[in-house]
Amino acid sequence: ASTTEVDVSAIQPGQAIKAVFRKQPLFVRRLTADEIKSANEVEVSSLRDPQTLGDRTKEGHEDMLITMGVCTHLGCVPLGAAEGENRGEFGGYFCPCHGSHYDTAGRIRKGPAPLNLQVPEYQFTSDTVIRVG
Ligand code: FES
Repeated sequence: ASTTEVDVSAIQPGQAIKAVFRKQPLFVRRLTADEIKSANEVEVSSLRDPQTLGDRTKEGHEDMLITMGVCTHLGCVPLGAAEGENRGEFGGYFCPCHGSHYDTAGRIRKGPAPLNLQVPEYQFTSDTVIRVG
């Protein structure tokens, strides 16, 4: 199986980049302190796909959110990983195909998608480089 390496050192808080992993879009986002706070304020048991931000990030790197850029409804590429794109009502990602809103942890909050954006297998190979897959 192929892996993808991403240097995350240039990604500023509030910024996201798109990469490619196994021919699918991958979103790599550095969360701001406010985005981390709002993700952690959510009552997890109220979520459709209950996960904490900590469940979806690596210890010591809770500001780096690595997800597939594939809506869990019917597979469109959500908006929000490029400058100025609509991030939806919960400030994360927004899928314009049928209106799914994901929060700053990439969790589904509104709309038809059944699951959170998938977090792929990955590791930090240094403080600034992740290897996905
Ligand atoms: Fe994203 Fe339907 S494919 S809302």
